[in-house]
Amino acid sequence: MTSDVLFDPQRLIRARVELVSEIDRGSAVLSSRVAEAFLNTPRHPFVPVFYRYTGTTYVPWRITDDADKWLRQVYSNEALVTEVDGVLAEDAAPSGQGGAATSSSTMPRLMADMLDALDVNPGNRVLEIGTGTGYNAGLLCHLAGAANVTTIDYTAPLVLAARGRLRELGLEPTVLRGDGAAGHPDGAPFDRIIATCSVRRIPQTWLDQCAPGGIIVAPLKGTLDGGAVACLTKLDDGGAVGRFISTPAAFMPLLSGPEQLFAMPDSIDGPQRTAEISGRTLDDFGFAFWAHLHMAPTAVRRGRQVNGQHSTTLYDPADGSATVVEDRPDGPPTVTTTGPRDLWKPIEGAHEQWRAHNRPRREWLHIEATPDEQSVTFLAPDGSFSRWVL
Ligand SMILES: C[S@@+](CC[C@H](N)C(=O)[O-])C[C@H]1O[C@@H](n2cnc3c(N)ncnc32)[C@H](O)[C@@H]1O
Repeated sequence: MTSDVLFDPQRLIRARVELVSEIDRGSAVLSSRVAEAFLNTPRHPFVPVFYRYTGTTYVPWRITDDADKWLRQVYSNEALVTEVDGVLAEDAAPSGQGGAATSSSTMPRLMADMLDALDVNPGNRVLEIGTGTGYNAGLLCHLAGAANVTTIDYTAPLVLAARGRLRELGLEPTVLRGDGAAGHPDGAPFDRIIATCSVRRIPQTWLDQCAPGGIIVAPLKGTLDGGAVACLTKLDDGGAVGRFISTPAAFMPLLSGPEQLFAMPDSIDGPQRTAEISGRTLDDFGFAFWAHLHMAPTAVRRGRQVNGQHSTTLYDPADGSATVVEDRPDGPPTVTTTGPRDLWKPIEGAHEQWRAHNRPRREWLHIEATPDEQSVTFLAPDGSFSRWVL
């Protein structure tokens, strides 16, 4: 009774058509090939159970809860969290699960934008890093042909589930458990490589395993929330050049090896000054990506509320510098630093530059990767040039 909607083909087709119209209404320019892939690949088999966030807990949502609402959510332009702290939504207690999302089905409009940038043609050999639910792999099978698709995830239960769901739809790509940071040397070279988890810089393995003329689409993100999806073309000399797509993206990071968790200092004592900008400035994803380019690669950030006020802590384990920026109810935010460097200064400088350049959009930036170095560049309308090494 509750799952009648799954036996109503007209209803399921309508849901997919509505999703494609919804994607097309956004800023993404949906190509006919990608639209066709979304029309022919159902999302619901890949997300039989997903989480709803209540503000404190992730509660599993099943079709048996309310089939109509469930189906609407599945075919909405929303990301659907499917794993929290390693617990699949299927296995979660009805009361829910605390922790952080560790896998999800990405927002369809972002998926469409990334697939458009990837420009997959039938017969292209494709590698996906981050299988997750398998939905994106299903779309890739439609675009390239299942025999040409390899997809890798770090987590064994996700791989098993995705492989089974793809098979039920008659699709048999290569679905592997492994560390996507290593790519898949045995299957190389690939014409297209797509990552659906974020990296600080493009792993050399992906550059090595991409065929000349091939395309790599990968979200770049540091410790700040704002990420940007890079789209690079591999050159004959082993390097790659490209740009960023316009859609913001804050993918979960590529997990590799032991997680490096640094104990953030709880309280910071030291010289104090007035901040030029609040830590909340980093809530703007456009600025956060620009700011990330100005941060030392080793620096980490934590944002939280303290006594009802926003507080951002930056910490660089490389030299022990720690800086906290705190909003005040009765005046401008303050900056307190311990260690050799004030870590908020470069972010303030980045903000001044970002405003002076009229808030550059991520799609105005370029990226270049050589075997020795990766960098992002920006040529401002006034002719000035900025370059950051990743
Ligand atoms: C946003 S989800 C992927 C969404 C997926 N493409 C889909 O369509 O459902 C990110 C995935 O990256 C995976 N991941 C994280 N680190 C990884 C690594 N080192 N190698 C392979 N997969 C990784 C996570 O397990 C998670 O499933």
